Amino acid sequence: MEFTRPRGTRDFLFDEMRQRSEAENTLREVFENYGYGEVKTPLFEELKLFTTKSGEEIIDQLYNFKDKSDRELALRPEVTAAISRLYINEMSKTAKPIKLYYYGSCFRYERPQKGRFRQFWQFGCELIGAKSPEGEGEVISMANESIIKLGITTAEIHINHLGIIRGLFEHFGIDKEKSREVMVVVDKGDKQLLEDALKGDEPIIDNEELADILLVLIDMVGDSSIFEDIKNLVFDYEECRTALDELQELITTLKSFNVLNYNINLGVARGLDYYTGIVFEIYVPELGSQKQVCGGGTYSLIKLFGGEDVVSTGFAFGFDRLMDAIEACGNLPTVKPKVDVYVAPISDDTRQLSYTIAQNLRCENIKTEIDLSRKKFKKLLSYANNLGVRFTVLVGSKDVENNQVTIKNMQTGYQELIDIDNILSYIKENL
Ligand code: HAM
Repeated sequence: MEFTRPRGTRDFLFDEMRQRSEAENTLREVFENYGYGEVKTPLFEELKLFTTKSGEEIIDQLYNFKDKSDRELALRPEVTAAISRLYINEMSKTAKPIKLYYYGSCFRYERPQKGRFRQFWQFGCELIGAKSPEGEGEVISMANESIIKLGITTAEIHINHLGIIRGLFEHFGIDKEKSREVMVVVDKGDKQLLEDALKGDEPIIDNEELADILLVLIDMVGDSSIFEDIKNLVFDYEECRTALDELQELITTLKSFNVLNYNINLGVARGLDYYTGIVFEIYVPELGSQKQVCGGGTYSLIKLFGGEDVVSTGFAFGFDRLMDAIEACGNLPTVKPKVDVYVAPISDDTRQLSYTIAQNLRCENIKTEIDLSRKKFKKLLSYANNLGVRFTVLVGSKDVENNQVTIKNMQTGYQELIDIDNILSYIKENL
């Protein structure tokens, strides 16, 4: 019988795991430099945590099930809802702002393809209870710095304020249901599709003026100078003005945080329903259709879950896509061999001493392997070669009689007799 991996999941082997750990450490360092602390929430939660406000798209993709006591549960498709629950359960008395970050698996039942999996990893953060736009500016700046430190050189940050489009919906009296339908089409980023949806045979909304504005609006992509054009387009609609002011303030703040390389893009709609203000996405064009490596924005889920009205801002990197992006930019770290020293007992009578030598090296944090399968001499050396170790310590009976071992430099082939007491210092000096 042969078992295969479930569709949309992967196994990771040594080299890939070490590259992933390195990227993980880089992100931890950046996030901690900004004062964020790590938290962990369960892999599964009550189903209703995700059905309350995460948007149709996510709900269709849920891995949900009943446990043996008939509880409705779901594997988490994302972590923001869980963090909002955690805040209400554990942290509502904590002084704000609260800065949390997380790294872990998420699960979405969707059609697997390159860069799109059923189990994938998110590295994300939530800034709870900070005032915008300084909170938003700092969050975007942290995302930007992470990308730079990971060696991703081609990323584009796209920022929008959902208050602009929502202001228009309000002005033209478009109900929630229809607004949502339009947002789903806007999120697809396809102008023809939007034109069909707004002006085709069965338009979602029957309003020529709004349709015309929306069709101009989703094309508005550019650096901060585009702000004037946006203002000209929507300033007359009073309901958009708060959003315009907030966007203007964010632009000023981003400059002070030294983030200059971004686009304002009024077509960014986000697939999740809980955002209320600024939203942003980061794209790496080399990744093709799954180019979005990060998504985030400002939201107020805590109030929705029955807590106080605390505004939060956050984002999550799709960690698997980040790894693809680092590779596409040619900056994956070269993987070093996983051990430095191989201890090779040449005969049965030196085996016990060899174990002690290996232990002494390990105690000093030297990555060491020892023969555990009683290999013959030739095989010992070829195994050491395959491991890629720097040194092999050959423990032979004759040398041991003189309290010595032979240490072979596997790169140069040079070998030397070393006193057993000096093995550690010799290796430390030459490693
Ligand atoms: P999201 O955009 O749904 O946002 O997911 C964040 C990132 O996860 C995406 O940009 C993408 O890189 C990655 N991702 C999503 N689905 C998959 C998949 N099936 N396979 C591989 N990668 C995937 C959120 O989840 C929000 N909770 C982010 C947030 C935090 N907003 C505020 N705080």
